[in-house]
Amino acid sequence: MDKLLVEGPCKLMGSVEISSAKNATLPILVATILCPYPVKFTGIPDLMDVGTILKLMQSMGVKVERNLNDYVIDATSLTNQHADYLLVKTMRASVLVLGPLLARYGVASVSLPGGCAIGARPVDIHLSGLEKMGAHIEIENGYIKAKCDKLKGAVITFPFPSVGATENIMMAAVLAEGTTVIENAAMEPEIDDLADFLMAQGVKIEGSGTSRMIIHGMKINELKPSPWPYRVIGDRIEAATFIIAAIMSGGDVKVSGFNPDHLKFVLETLTKMGAQLEIGKDFIQIHPSQRLKGGTIETLPFPGFPTDVQAQMMALMSIVDGSSIVTETIFENRFMHVPEMIRMGSKITLKGNSALIEGVESLSGAPVMCTDLRASAALILCALIADGQTEIQRVYHLDRGYERIDEKLTKLGAKITRVKG
Ligand code: EPZ
Repeated sequence: MDKLLVEGPCKLMGSVEISSAKNATLPILVATILCPYPVKFTGIPDLMDVGTILKLMQSMGVKVERNLNDYVIDATSLTNQHADYLLVKTMRASVLVLGPLLARYGVASVSLPGGCAIGARPVDIHLSGLEKMGAHIEIENGYIKAKCDKLKGAVITFPFPSVGATENIMMAAVLAEGTTVIENAAMEPEIDDLADFLMAQGVKIEGSGTSRMIIHGMKINELKPSPWPYRVIGDRIEAATFIIAAIMSGGDVKVSGFNPDHLKFVLETLTKMGAQLEIGKDFIQIHPSQRLKGGTIETLPFPGFPTDVQAQMMALMSIVDGSSIVTETIFENRFMHVPEMIRMGSKITLKGNSALIEGVESLSGAPVMCTDLRASAALILCALIADGQTEIQRVYHLDRGYERIDEKLTKLGAKITRVKG
């Protein structure tokens, strides 16, 4: 297992180009299962999770051609509709194959994703939506066994705006008979990007990016390839991670290649805390600022504060003036980074799903361990500004969702060495 050695403190200077969004790339690649023709992509990020989803799709007979970040994904004919436990257990997003497989073939056997470090992460909302569309679903030996004659459009009201469930039902609805309405749909920009991709294949969708989305079912031969390769939106979570790194280091950095409108709440919160941000059309320029003051955040579905930036905010809050409060409402166990940050000198008290962070003068380097993707990002941010060396173990968590983050930070002036393990 690789580890990173980080020498702190450092000041980040220069500019960084953000990669395409992991959480849009995954559902959009899965959506090609609906398309009986090759689909071209450009700018696909080089991430472990992308590798995992493509391996899963290839195990079903999907053909994948790759040239660096450009791909041709050909799902003209699949050989099976089985998503094996060994692949699904490493990445929960694999459950997204359920909707398109059912819609196209009327059958799917997908391993239950199981929990992960940040929570149980059930799929009940996904399954009840598909049942409303006529799917017959049983759980057998840890697998979701689903079948149907033909999915039918339905009005589906979600008890919670689940991102994955919204994506699964959107894809299922594409080849269902009639129209599907999703009430209380997730509104994350990644959902909007999936809708844009589907519309580029000729699907008629109304209300994407709102909480009421309408998808008009069609026949598979009505789907048409778009003439140009599809490019996924920039990764707002990676962008937020670099913006916070620049602020913490007192640096002067331009973060570009994403839409700042996708981070409105985060940028407002940072500005309120005293960050000096210049907001452009597809970039943020971070200027050095006085020591920030504490803030309060509560993670919420979009457009609220994103849970995927919570850990990174805690890293920043560790070294501001005064106290901050973080409340995590999306996942039940998303404070795994806290004990590791305390070992570096952060002053954090947990109470239920809230954390009180008292700002300290500085952090000190220490050996720490990654537990999940965004916790890993928080540890890197702390290490950049800590006094001395930090050894970050199990960085495979980081490689799942950040494209060469150590190289990008080194280009900005960080002192990071990757030790192959
Ligand atoms: C997506 O996960 C993202 N992953 C997550 O990013 C992100 O944190 C999350 O959305 C929330 O924004 C991808 O897009 C691949 P949910 P997802 O369904 O779809 C509960 C990262 O770091 N729930 O909105 O799994 C669930 O347990 C990752 O990049 C049910 O109870 O999120 C959780 O508590 C981490 N039943 C909450 O809803 C269900 O059927 C949010 O889940 C589905 C979800």
